[in-house]
Amino acid sequence: MEQAIYQELPVGSGPDIEGLFNEISKGFKGKPDELIPMLQRVQRALGFLPEQALLEIARHTGLSAARVFGTATFYAQFRFQPVGKYIIRVCRGTACHVKGSYRLLETIEDYLQATPGQMTPDGLFTIETVACFGCCALAPIMVVNDSVYGSLNRSKALKLLDEIRGREAGVHS
Ligand code: FES
Repeated sequence: MEQAIYQELPVGSGPDIEGLFNEISKGFKGKPDELIPMLQRVQRALGFLPEQALLEIARHTGLSAARVFGTATFYAQFRFQPVGKYIIRVCRGTACHVKGSYRLLETIEDYLQATPGQMTPDGLFTIETVACFGCCALAPIMVVNDSVYGSLNRSKALKLLDEIRGREAGVHS
């Protein structure tokens, strides 16, 4: 459900953070100990935590903005930059490295013209690296949103990205 809110946003438009937060906040009582669940809920909806959303959370929970920002930045799970509709996670663990994940990552970076942490200008992709997905037997691994692709090589990865781009071009044409 949360993913649907994010996907309905037209590429390039800014989210209606106030409206979204008003919806989200209905599920909370506004207690300080709801801070982490609220941060998680906003990130699930938007893909990241915009500054305005953090200020709304501070207002709703009665916590100081410094406390909310401090907590959000403490945890690696939270992001502060917009992310693409498709998050491409490439494993950089030892087993995947030995099986060529560094070449895979380079190829994806070249193809998308983006580096880890950056969103592509069309808003479709963000590349991330992960230390290990815990399924090393399938190395090298790439995960696209929730779908895991194992035993990948560069041409399979590019084919997959091409398919996504083609599908999205069809959706927006
Ligand atoms: S090293 Fe890539 S899944 Fe473990």
